Amino acid sequence: MLNQIKEKALEEITRAKDLKQLEQIYRRYLGRKGELTKVLRSLKDLPGKERAEKGRLANQLKKEIDQAVKEKSQKFSGRFGPAKVKDWIDISAPSPAPPPEGYPHPISLVQRQVEGIFQSIGFSVVDGPEIENEYYNFDALNIPKNHPARDLWDTFWLKDIDLLLRTHTSPMQARYMEENQPPLRIIVPGRCFRHEATDASHDVQFYQIEGLMVGQDVSMSHFKGIVEEFLKQFFGPEVKMRLRPGYFPFTEPSFEVDAKREKGDWLELMGAGMVHQNVFKAVGYPLRKWQGFAFGVGLDRLAMIKYKIDDIRLFYSGDLRFLKQF
Ligand code: FA5
Repeated sequence: MLNQIKEKALEEITRAKDLKQLEQIYRRYLGRKGELTKVLRSLKDLPGKERAEKGRLANQLKKEIDQAVKEKSQKFSGRFGPAKVKDWIDISAPSPAPPPEGYPHPISLVQRQVEGIFQSIGFSVVDGPEIENEYYNFDALNIPKNHPARDLWDTFWLKDIDLLLRTHTSPMQARYMEENQPPLRIIVPGRCFRHEATDASHDVQFYQIEGLMVGQDVSMSHFKGIVEEFLKQFFGPEVKMRLRPGYFPFTEPSFEVDAKREKGDWLELMGAGMVHQNVFKAVGYPLRKWQGFAFGVGLDRLAMIKYKIDDIRLFYSGDLRFLKQF
């Protein structure tokens, strides 16, 4: 009887074509009403000696069938046994396929590279709040209420409280200088927000890195040298950049820096300039004692040129086909 069960079961297991069939076979022999289960249940009615002998053989067969099903099931699925079958899951078994690994977002990649370059030339990395107040986003930067320049940085205001989503990383200039005395060299990476129409190079959220260097005799030539060095390290020695005059209430003089894209056009990368004395005044520095430069570079724009991405909105689309390429 046991021999017959054994032959039949092992033969069926060998011929099973998928997990479903295997599960049916298991149930046929070892399920609640399975053939072998019935034999095991009937043992109690046998006389002592016979019970011991038959019990030993039946239990051994149970193990054999169990093992054969387990082995076969691995062939089908690469995982342990059909989940419905009790006691089959070996939770300590190593996963047959390694779990998918994450990877950094292209903006994070670029942020790390920029931080590395500036750290190597003596800048520290500091962090600032994404939710700002009006004073640091505007007033401390020489943009009083009703100043027309506020229109350039239309933002999202938080309801019922006097706070806003920062439009640039520049508020950290004032926050940092209030707490620290020159000489200083910092960069501030972070997310910014603007209430404006999106297009291929503008989004309502994007990333900037602010740079600030202040000392006794920090001049425009320091700025040009450092930015040139940064762009060369970031894009390679053949990068082409240009400075254009610009306007920011918190720098005087002000300029914009563009880089040339492969297709031949220029893309604006950053706004910059020499820190306005009114900003020093707002943070309590004595007038005309210090001078320095500041800049705010768009991280998305850096990534767009570096990786030849022609639409900024791809960064925030959550499309894995795009993100997996980095
Ligand atoms: C500013 O935000 C100034 N705070 C920069 C600055 C800092 C000037 C320090 C002087 C001294 P601007 O609005 O031009 O400037 O933005 C700076 C850079 O941020 C742009 O050159 C661009 O690279 C990026 N940027 C601005 N708006 C967007 C947007 N909507 N989407 C993507 N990137 C943007």
